[in-house]
Amino acid sequence: MTATTLNPTVLRPVLTSACITAELATTLFTMADAVLPWVTKAALRQPLLAGRTLATAFYEHSTRTRLSFALAAEYLGMHVVDLNVATSSVQKGEALQDTLATLAAMGVDAMALRHGEAGIHTQVAQPALENHSVLLLNAGAGKAEHPTQALLDAFTLWRRFDGKLAGKTVCMVGDIAHSRVARSNAVLLNTLGVTVNGVAPHAWQPPATDPAFAQAVMTESLGEGLANADAAMALRIQHERHETDTAIEVAQYQLSHAALEQYAPQCRAVLHPGPMNRTVEITNALADDPALSCITQQVTHGVAMRMALLLHGFGVGVARYAS
Ligand code: NCD
Repeated sequence: MTATTLNPTVLRPVLTSACITAELATTLFTMADAVLPWVTKAALRQPLLAGRTLATAFYEHSTRTRLSFALAAEYLGMHVVDLNVATSSVQKGEALQDTLATLAAMGVDAMALRHGEAGIHTQVAQPALENHSVLLLNAGAGKAEHPTQALLDAFTLWRRFDGKLAGKTVCMVGDIAHSRVARSNAVLLNTLGVTVNGVAPHAWQPPATDPAFAQAVMTESLGEGLANADAAMALRIQHERHETDTAIEVAQYQLSHAALEQYAPQCRAVLHPGPMNRTVEITNALADDPALSCITQQVTHGVAMRMALLLHGFGVGVARYAS
């Protein structure tokens, strides 16, 4: 396999979960599956995007999303630069569109952008970048969107359930209202024919008008939400997004073996997007259970999914590299 000649006009950004059709998701799952062995076996990697540059621009904290975009790009032979927001001209008041145009003017080909503001990818970043032929990927927007996390989570479930997702039930537990992971997952899972249940105290339930959860059943009862769940997803409590302090018995919303044995003995997968607060959102024993917990796999799958997104974004089809 030799490095491909890339068509600079083919740019397929992934900005929202609502834009991901079932067909696109399945294409990305197949692509991610093909490159998954590349993540842990260096000898398998091929520089299919050699010569291209990815910039990571994270205006909010991150460990796994930023590093997995960077590693995915490097495993495909790309150069990677990181905009260190804390020490950059952003601190001198530079507007986002000017920072993005500056990176584009230096020859950056792709950008993974995380920002605190909902809608900024579609309303500000994409218009600023499209004239420069820069591929934009949404690495998280406020509490609204995290479509690449939704893709990697769905990919993890797709592998766990042998490619059969339609008809399954996923129960999300915890701080749903403030979680961009929950919103993006709910939208994508519904697109894939998966039923989404949510378990949260009233203060952590999304507003009834939130279209992301229009098809989801919300309850305060762990037993009710977990009934029929094929998979359970714990969520980090988003303290930094809470406007008021609400007294919540967090122990009632903790995923544990005891809860699964009592309410969901049929459950075959436990997910957490990370970073997790052990003994708060999930017990140590369940987080580390090799049979049920997919948490480490989610991280590895995140690199493969971001490789798939970069390949797809630059128009390199699965047939070009699948063995
Ligand atoms: C999440 C995020 O930042 O949205 N983490 C991640 O991307 N894996 C979840 C969180 O911070 O709780």
